Amino acid sequence: MSGTMASFFNAVRPNTSNSRLTVPPKMNKQFSSSSTFLATTSLLGKVAVVTGSSRSIGASVAKCLGEHGANVVVNYVKDAISAEEVIQSIRSQGKGGAIAVKADTSTLEGAQFLLDEAVKTFGKIDILVLNAGVMGSKTLAEIDEAFFDSHFDINVKAPLFMAKAAAAILPAPGGRIIFFSSSLTAASTVTPNALCYLATKGAIEQISRVLAKDLGSRGITVNTISPGPVDTPMFREGKPQGVLDSIAKQNPSRRLGEPDDIAPIVGFLASSAAQWINGQNIRVNGGFVV
Ligand SMILES: NC(=O)c1ccc[n+]([C@@H]2O[C@H](COP(=O)([O-])OP(=O)(O)OC[C@H]3O[C@@H](n4cnc5c(N)ncnc54)[C@H](OP(=O)(O)O)[C@@H]3O)[C@@H](O)[C@H]2O)c1
Repeated sequence: MSGTMASFFNAVRPNTSNSRLTVPPKMNKQFSSSSTFLATTSLLGKVAVVTGSSRSIGASVAKCLGEHGANVVVNYVKDAISAEEVIQSIRSQGKGGAIAVKADTSTLEGAQFLLDEAVKTFGKIDILVLNAGVMGSKTLAEIDEAFFDSHFDINVKAPLFMAKAAAAILPAPGGRIIFFSSSLTAASTVTPNALCYLATKGAIEQISRVLAKDLGSRGITVNTISPGPVDTPMFREGKPQGVLDSIAKQNPSRRLGEPDDIAPIVGFLASSAAQWINGQNIRVNGGFVV
């Protein structure tokens, strides 16, 4: 038996000389096995950046992280009033702090500005939630370069470069990166006008998988949340009520998702309780896609 094979078997076989198992060294855990579940879901003292969090899913995520103690950077482009409401809601819980930062994350400058403002205010970043996105509606015949670029800039390019910048400063171990895709990447009922949107989400899922292996070696987890239909302005855009109703009926619960259906799983992934969840694509859709 070669030396390598012999040492592998010695690691898993009982040692006949003293009848004890030789166990390979374990990675250090970030919390002891006696820690309570609640203690490990606390985000007290953490700093979270949530792109596109003035409304809809991002706002719900920002509030959830704040309720669990994180200091949250709320990002918006147009709607300063809604962003202000989100930060007031977080501050009123008396746990985490919050600031609103106007930054267009479809540009690399805007994305970097957002991260810089977070560090300037709170001194660090622990959790990066890449929620901002657009969902236009064009078939292959209708797509032009500007439409393609507008989708890839905000849905793929900026999240990738934000992850790159954050990877250099996130705590290792303990940092968290959470991307957003869509359950539609796994659905067989896909309409032709979703081409560009789903191409970006496919790209994000692969970026997340690769980064989970890469940054995972430093104890930074990288996961993807893939909602099903959620009742937000993005989802409602251009759909007559009959279409919305028929999509709702396709869910076992016969309703659309709400932003608050999505936020808690993001909060959990951001916590130390989820330290062993890495490289996963979690479909949060009430069973819309199984
Ligand atoms: N809703 C769904 O059914 C659904 C399903 C699957 C996946 N998702 C994914 O979930 C994420 C959130 O979707 P949503 O439905 O909550 O979207 P939404 O209702 O359109 O809200 C988008 C948020 O992003 C902000 N935003 C837009 N452009 C931005 C930019 N260039 N830079 C920074 N922030 C920007 C908006 O702020 P302002 O208003 O200030 O511009 C707003 O806060 C997206 O990644 C989406 O693909 C959604």
